[in-house]
Amino acid sequence: MTTKSPVLFKPFKIKSVEFKNRIGVSPMCMYSSKDGFANNWHLVHLGTRAVGGAGLVISEATAVSPEARITPDDLGIWKDEHIEKLKEITAFLEGQGSVPGIQLAHAGRKASTTSPWKGGRLIKEEEGGWQPVAPSAIPFFENNPAPAALDAAGIRKVIFNFREASKRAFLAGFKVVEIHAAHGYLLHEFLSPLSNHRNDEYGGSFENRTRLLLEVTRAVKDEWPEELPLFVRISAKDWAEGGWNEEESVKLAKLLKEEGVDLIDCSSGGLVPDVRIPVAKKYQVPFSEKIKKEAGIMSAAVGMITTPWEAEEVLQQEQADMVFMGRELLRNPYFPLEAAAALEADIEWPNQYLRARTR
Ligand SMILES: Cc1cc2nc3c(=O)[nH]c(=O)nc-3n(C[C@H](O)[C@H](O)[C@H](O)COP(=O)(O)O)c2cc1C
Repeated sequence: MTTKSPVLFKPFKIKSVEFKNRIGVSPMCMYSSKDGFANNWHLVHLGTRAVGGAGLVISEATAVSPEARITPDDLGIWKDEHIEKLKEITAFLEGQGSVPGIQLAHAGRKASTTSPWKGGRLIKEEEGGWQPVAPSAIPFFENNPAPAALDAAGIRKVIFNFREASKRAFLAGFKVVEIHAAHGYLLHEFLSPLSNHRNDEYGGSFENRTRLLLEVTRAVKDEWPEELPLFVRISAKDWAEGGWNEEESVKLAKLLKEEGVDLIDCSSGGLVPDVRIPVAKKYQVPFSEKIKKEAGIMSAAVGMITTPWEAEEVLQQEQADMVFMGRELLRNPYFPLEAAAALEADIEWPNQYLRARTR
């Protein structure tokens, strides 16, 4: 594989937004907020990755309502007061030449738990937790209390909350919105027959199970400027018998494309516990490739992509349009700067760091 003129560092455009490269910081929960507010942790964490050269920096799963949080420490965007600090962050990211993105999320039946480093256990309502909601009253863990199945008014409220969050995301200066429909959270729970046992127009057939995500997408689009990119993250499959699968993902991606979605971010799993996922290098890339080719929509590959050459190869082989990275960028926020050197791409460095450019 030649590394001259690497695709990874070729600037490209989606709608009106130019990305200086194809590296995206994958959304990662920080569990560091109080009452949903961003703070200096988020500024420094996201800001460092922008200084490190990522073309796109996507905020963690950001709750569209208080009960949409996984934990009480989640980032949120359910009230206007949240906008101010987020605006400071997006301005910093843009100042570094990175595109600021936000992932809008609802945790569904996986809500009301403690943060992972506090044990990740369910918080009961009497301990300050709240009642999780879901398509059906089926808990994630068999022994947990059942979530409340959303009624028609509850579903309308979810759609409204995403719409309002989209409006605030724009006011906060984000240039990409990603709807979180993966990892077993609310929108994914509606997609999968394993968590959705409804017998109304939101359950049963493929058309019914995808209805909520399509309605949420329309609501987000109503408030999101036409010229700005809209992404959706899905779990391409549940890795469980009788679950959501790749063929349905392709069908869904076609529908999302018709709705004006620009890119599908292809993850997998998270809907049910105790499944065997063959985690290995680039293990989710085939999903990105399949969706890109068969649905004719842009895609992002994510998961166990940790070297410049792996990322470059995915793009050269047209298996994805962007590469999102999570843990490698936690270990090394300067990965993009170092990857450019490794692939012999000539990119701009932050002026303040120029003296470190040549070893
Ligand atoms: C600390 C941490 C928090 C995460 N939080 C989110 C999240 O908020 N939203 C999401 O869609 N995925 C989340 N993920 C998954 C990552 O975005 C990514 O898909 C996953 O880590 C696989 O990519 P990697 O192998 O490059 O880390 C999280 C992962 C980590 C490690």
